[in-house]
Amino acid sequence: MAITIPFNKPYLTGKEAHFIYQAVSNGKLSGNGEFTKRCQRFFEDKYKFKKCLLTTSCTDALEMAAILCDLKPDDEVIVPSYTFVSSALAFVRAGARIVFADSMERNPNIDADKIESLITPRTKVIVPVHYAGVACDMDKIMEIADRHNLLVVEDAAQAIDSFYKTRPLGGIGHLSAFSFHETKNVISGEGGMLVINDERFIRRAEIIWEKGTNRAEFFRGEVNKYGWCDIGSSFLPSEVISAFLMAQLEDMDEIQEKRKLLWGKYYELLSPMAERGCFRIPDIPDYATNNAHMFYIVCNSLKERTELIQKLKENGVSAVFHYLSLHSSPFYSDKHDGRILPNCDLYADRLLRLPMFYELSLSEVSYICDVIVRHFSE
Ligand SMILES: Cc1ncc(COP(=O)(O)O)c(C=O)c1O
Repeated sequence: MAITIPFNKPYLTGKEAHFIYQAVSNGKLSGNGEFTKRCQRFFEDKYKFKKCLLTTSCTDALEMAAILCDLKPDDEVIVPSYTFVSSALAFVRAGARIVFADSMERNPNIDADKIESLITPRTKVIVPVHYAGVACDMDKIMEIADRHNLLVVEDAAQAIDSFYKTRPLGGIGHLSAFSFHETKNVISGEGGMLVINDERFIRRAEIIWEKGTNRAEFFRGEVNKYGWCDIGSSFLPSEVISAFLMAQLEDMDEIQEKRKLLWGKYYELLSPMAERGCFRIPDIPDYATNNAHMFYIVCNSLKERTELIQKLKENGVSAVFHYLSLHSSPFYSDKHDGRILPNCDLYADRLLRLPMFYELSLSEVSYICDVIVRHFSE
């Protein structure tokens, strides 16, 4: 059977083309124009982030964060192994050695209780990744970082509009990075944002953002010419991207409401099978909210996951897994210190993501769950 329910479908609010037309009419299409500023202000006002800079991807935002951390050769950065390559790659490019941490048993986030044992005199940064938009245990992580004088860079790629207790994710660490890739809740095709919560980094971040120049200060009229001040790159997106993103941000509440409805339906329909032990469903700790970025199940074995993917495919549903453990990746396995990370490997083998996108219907969710329930009842 052909796939009739894709894993993801990028959603258009309908305002994107109009906003892009406005950007063209403004006569400024390069970065740091009206729409870029509007998007940045949106986040600064709504979540009280100190300073936001749009980037062309979350990977770019992480690379900016890594530069700001001012790493020296042999400095160490603690990163979960169950994450997207960029969470580690950005720091490798800045010269650091990655010390991979294991996930928790209850969910794929970094196990905060095990971080302290990984700290050495060379440790400089901890990178909590809020998997599926569910918060890591940030009080514990910030307390450890404070005690050891470490920086915290939140990888909030999936964590828009999600909270740790009452604090928005991305607003807790010294720096944080968001993604607006087409698979995220709010999108601009490719896109991202660096959040700077520690004022010490603001001026340098703006310079790194604009090819190592103080052009942002020049455009604000703070200096009468701009020049080369530091390293950097062209990390800022064009106004076309920012205009697209602004259209999405205006409808964010509606997008979130629909996604939460779909997520709730999956949870309701799959709970009975989870209670019977057929698989696990997401576990959201008391300190975390759910932004409905992703609905996943954790199968009892790799074999069961493979069979379920096949069964869903035969019924027209595309379900996917991701994140092969980074500590055993072809690029990093010979640099890893050899520790076994069992929870990370478990999620790499058994976690399965079900379709989740704005235009998915409740009846399609019921259909998907029905295929799963029938599969486990056979
Ligand atoms: C946890 C995490 N970090 C970083 C990224 C990279 O984001 P981008 O594609 O915007 O560079 C992703 C992408 O999916 C991600 O899931």
